[in-house]
Amino acid sequence: MMEKASLLLSIVILIIQCPPTIPVTVFTSRPKVEVREGADAVLSCEFKTEKEQNPRIEWKKKDTDVSFVYFEGDFRGNFAGRAEIEGATVTLRRVSQKDAGQYRCEISAPLDTLTLGETNITLKVLVPPHTPSCDIPSSALTGSVVQLRCRDRQSIPPATYSWYKDDQPLVPSHLANATYKINPMTGILEFRTVSRTDTGQYSCLASNGVGPSKMCEGKRMKIDDVNIPAVVAAVVVICLVAICGVGGFYAHRNGYFTRQKGRSFWIPQCHGVAHISSQNLHRTEDMPNTNYCAPPQNPQDFKHTQSFML
Ligand SMILES: *[C@@H]1O[C@H](CO)[C@@H](O)[C@H](O)[C@H]1NC(C)=O
Ligand SMILES: *[C@@H]1O[C@H](CO)[C@@H](O)[C@H](O)[C@H]1NC(C)=O
Repeated sequence: MMEKASLLLSIVILIIQCPPTIPVTVFTSRPKVEVREGADAVLSCEFKTEKEQNPRIEWKKKDTDVSFVYFEGDFRGNFAGRAEIEGATVTLRRVSQKDAGQYRCEISAPLDTLTLGETNITLKVLVPPHTPSCDIPSSALTGSVVQLRCRDRQSIPPATYSWYKDDQPLVPSHLANATYKINPMTGILEFRTVSRTDTGQYSCLASNGVGPSKMCEGKRMKIDDVNIPAVVAAVVVICLVAICGVGGFYAHRNGYFTRQKGRSFWIPQCHGVAHISSQNLHRTEDMPNTNYCAPPQNPQDFKHTQSFML
């Protein structure tokens, strides 16, 4: 009995404190709005007031700081001339990426018990894919790692990518016995060990579900067997051997090989020769025989070596 009485009492107190009227209430039917770039965006804001006949309507946009969109009956800043208001609902015409962000509809009703109400709306501006930029090497050597890249930085939401070879889609690598790997998020098509059968015309398609997908211009990639740097390196080695032979002949004639002390100086000299040649080729790693004895090529080198030994 006591509990029931106290409950009744609290209800009575509540009724006395809050008059049975509705204070200003503000709400939106769409708190998240997504529209394509260039289309119109409707930012819904609805309200009910208690007594106030002339509530003040304000719209603000929050970027790094808060700016007015609609204030004292006019659209402000870059919204002037391209926005309309009906009730408190705003329609923005031809939205661009700059319009994306958080908006706030504020209603003040000075005569109401609760004088201020607000609602937030997030506007997302979607951007259809642009023609992606494709980075496709024109040639590569059999067995090497090759990456083809595709990127469209502008689309919102970010695009996903698919690759085409000779106008045929390359199936996602996990479905095929594929020698390649496609990452649809980064747009990278990677061949771990490229082979001659991978030669072909490659292109890439960017899609994000907003507008039509866009494809980059196809580019031919040719895979070759001939390892030209290796051939060049082989020729260099043959030349070094020949020089070595001639040098060795002279060295022998001058009796260098018979002197123990002298021998130790041959090796740095040999390295020097090999190093200069390989630098010219930019292929130091392809030099198979750096231990090869390459003695000095001309008499000046001999003099130098000699002075060293003295
Ligand atoms: C609207 O967002 C602001 C911050 O930007 C926040 O302070 C406020 O509480 C939000 N209002 C509602 C009704 O969610
Ligand atoms: C997968 O590769 C193996 C050998 O590498 C081959 O014999 C087989 O036919 C391939 N399967 C498909 C579905 O391509």
